Amino acid sequence: MAVTFTFYLSFMFLVSSNLAYFGTSHPTCQATYPPHAIPIYPEDVDPVQFAVNLEYLEAEFFLWGALGYGLDHVAPELALGGPPPIGAMKANLDYLTLNIITEFAYQEVGHLRYSLPLSLCLSQNLSLSLKRSCSVTVFRALITTVGGFPRPLLDLSASNFAKLFDEAFGYHLVPPFNPYHDSLSYMLGSYVIPYMGLVGYVGTNSIINGYKTKRLLAGLLGVESGQDAVIRMYLYERAEELVHPYNHTVAEFTIRISEVRNQLAMCGIKDEGIIVPPELGAENRTCSNVLSADLNSLSYARTPAEILRVVYNTGNEHIPGGFYPKGANGRIAREYLMRP
Ligand SMILES: *[C@@H]1O[C@H](CO)[C@@H](O)[C@H](O)[C@H]1NC(C)=O
Ligand SMILES: *[C@@H]1O[C@H](CO)[C@@H](O)[C@H](O)[C@H]1NC(C)=O
Ligand SMILES: *[C@@H]1O[C@H](CO)[C@@H](O)[C@H](O)[C@H]1NC(C)=O
Repeated sequence: MAVTFTFYLSFMFLVSSNLAYFGTSHPTCQATYPPHAIPIYPEDVDPVQFAVNLEYLEAEFFLWGALGYGLDHVAPELALGGPPPIGAMKANLDYLTLNIITEFAYQEVGHLRYSLPLSLCLSQNLSLSLKRSCSVTVFRALITTVGGFPRPLLDLSASNFAKLFDEAFGYHLVPPFNPYHDSLSYMLGSYVIPYMGLVGYVGTNSIINGYKTKRLLAGLLGVESGQDAVIRMYLYERAEELVHPYNHTVAEFTIRISEVRNQLAMCGIKDEGIIVPPELGAENRTCSNVLSADLNSLSYARTPAEILRVVYNTGNEHIPGGFYPKGANGRIAREYLMRP
C-alpha cells in the first residue's frame, strides 16, 4: 500500500513537472519538410497497397491466434468486404505468448487503419487538402464511390502451414505440423510471417518518394522488424529444444524454413535461421543469428515478386496459392496474375 502510494506520488510529480514544461516552452516535435516537399507521389501508391496484403495476413493470423476471432469482429470496416480467412483459429497459447501475440495483433489493426486510407485516398485525384486530411470518413466515402482494396482471401489453415513445413523438411512430418497446437508451434508459424513484411519494406524504401509514404514505410518497418526480433529471440532461447513430437530442434525448424523461402524466392540467400555457419553470422564471427542480415549486417531486401513467390508457396508470382489462394490484391500483384 505504502509502496503503491509512493509510486503514485512520484508518478503525479512526473506528470505535473511535464505539464509545467509544456506550459512554459514551445518545443518543436514534428519534422519540418523542405517547402516544396511532396507528401505522396503517384508511384508511391502501388507499393503501399502491396504492403497492405502482408498487413492483412499478419492481422488475421495474430488476431485469430490470440483471440479466436479476426478483423470481422475487431474492425470489420477494415476488411472492405473481402472474404474471411480460411481455417484460422485460436491457438493454445500460454500467458506470455498470448500477451505478445495479442499486442502484435492490435499493432496490425493499427497498421491497416492507417495504411488503407493512405493508399486509397492518395491514389485518387483529390484536392491536396482532402489528401492531407484523408481520414476514415473520407476513406469510407471513397470506398463507396470508387471501390476499395478488399482483404484478399487468406488460407491460415493448419494444413496450409503443414504443407510449407513438409516442403521445408522434404518429407511429411507426422503428425502434420499445426501452428495452433501450442505456444512454440505458434511462434514457429509466426517465424514465417513478419519477416516477409520486414524484407519487403526494406525493398520498398528505395522506390518511394513522398515524405508521407516514407514516414509510413519507416513506421511499418520498425514495428515489423521488432515483431520479427521478438519471435526470433523467443525461438533462439529454445534453439536446442526438440519440437515435440518431432525429432528436430527449434533451430533446425528455422533453418529449414529459411532455406525453403530462399528456394521459393529464387534470389540467393536473403533469409537465415537462428543458428548459422560463421560465414553467415555477424562479421563472419558468430554462429548465433538472432537477427537475419547480410554481409554488412544490414537487413535483406526483397521485391514484391520475390515476396509473392514465397507467400504463394509456388515459386511463381504469376501462380497464386499458399496463404493467398486467389492471389494478393492491388495493382502490382494483380498485374502478375493477369500475365501468366
Ligand atoms: C486531376 O485534377 C486536376 C485538376 O482538378 C486535372 O487537371 C487533372 O487532369 C486530373 N488528373 C487526373 C489523372 O484525372
Ligand atoms: C533424432 O535425430 C538425431 C540427430 O539428427 C539422430 O541422431 C537420432 O537417431 C534421431 N532419433 C530418432 C528416434 O529418429
Ligand atoms: C566474410 O566472408 C566473406 C566471404 O565468405 C567475405 O567476402 C567478407 O569480406 C568477410 N567479412 C569480414 C568482415 O571479414
